Amino acid sequence: MLSHDMKPVVFASVAALEPPSSTMKEAYILPQDDAERRRLDEQYVMFKHFLDRDTTVLPESINPEDLHCVLDVAAGSMAWSVDVASLPQIRPRLSPSTPLSKRIEIYASDITGAKFPPQDVIDALHIKTFLHDVTQPFPAALHAKFDLVNMRMLLYALSREGWIQALRNVRQILKPGGKLLMFEPNAAVFLPSDIDAAMQNHAEELPVRLDNSWVGALNNAFIENTRINGHLTNLSKELPALILSSGLTLSAQTTHHIPLGPLCRTVRGVHGRSMASEEGSTIRAFAAVVEAITAVALRDGHLRGIDGERVCGEEGRRRLVRELSCMFDEVGIFKVCLEVVAQRPLVSE
Ligand SMILES: C[S@@+](CC[C@H](N)C(=O)[O-])C[C@H]1O[C@@H](n2cnc3c(N)ncnc32)[C@H](O)[C@@H]1O
Repeated sequence: MLSHDMKPVVFASVAALEPPSSTMKEAYILPQDDAERRRLDEQYVMFKHFLDRDTTVLPESINPEDLHCVLDVAAGSMAWSVDVASLPQIRPRLSPSTPLSKRIEIYASDITGAKFPPQDVIDALHIKTFLHDVTQPFPAALHAKFDLVNMRMLLYALSREGWIQALRNVRQILKPGGKLLMFEPNAAVFLPSDIDAAMQNHAEELPVRLDNSWVGALNNAFIENTRINGHLTNLSKELPALILSSGLTLSAQTTHHIPLGPLCRTVRGVHGRSMASEEGSTIRAFAAVVEAITAVALRDGHLRGIDGERVCGEEGRRRLVRELSCMFDEVGIFKVCLEVVAQRPLVSE
């Protein structure tokens, strides 16, 4: 069994793949360790729970029976690929002894295998892993190969140019008619009152709080970080146009307001699903992201306190994190996420 920090196995079929370029221009700002792997696993379960996909995993428009080749790009802890591979309609078809007409292959890639599950888990499900930077073209052997590509949670990884390259590269590996599944958050977070006010005013966009309040301080850290690192802050607005300009079509797009912290007690998920059991995991996940993002903000010199004053030094950052956690644990916040199903046209223009 490989330990988590060892390189993932590169399977024979993709042995020609180059490891990610060492001259990568995109700045990924979240941690690459075991704690982050656990956070990603918990976050995946929380989203699945919110979307009421405990048994289906995939959106209704995707029939697992129709899938023969699937890739999880920027797979992180591989929570999605492991879950798909474990579906009763999929698992028996993964064995290499399955007749070709019925067989399904599942691949997972990332710039690092540091958060992949233990190798025996990967092997038991016959998942093929490889290292790849999605802003670089995939090898020709993978072009037009996949019925379904999953690519999610790259908010803190890609610039506008990075998204353009990534979408172009993913389009190239989809079969004509193949689908791309995406799930991306916006950088900003919202209070329930922000969402209520926007709905009452029929506002097209939620107003982003950047005032002297705890949510303003959080948004300052999240949004300034994404800006400084060249990342896009408002993906629910920007992604659809980027997807269309990459030559993919949009089959479905849904914006979700996901409750975090104590809001899980009162706000329900899709189909009225209770979120009460997710309060603890959302508190842990939120604390980990605030820790990581405020550390980067301090390093880059743009961390501001609830009073709007610049925070200098680790002690000030820790105090701010404690204040933010206190407010968050009491009130909770909403995260806005966009779920998209895009498709490579059957006939290329
Ligand atoms: C927030 S994690 C999300 C992981 C997984 N998709 C999920 O939803 O749990 C983002 C992942 O993207 C990977 N990543 C960052 N930049 C990348 C790039 N340019 N190409 C491929 N993967 C990248 C990171 O290593 C990390 O595993």
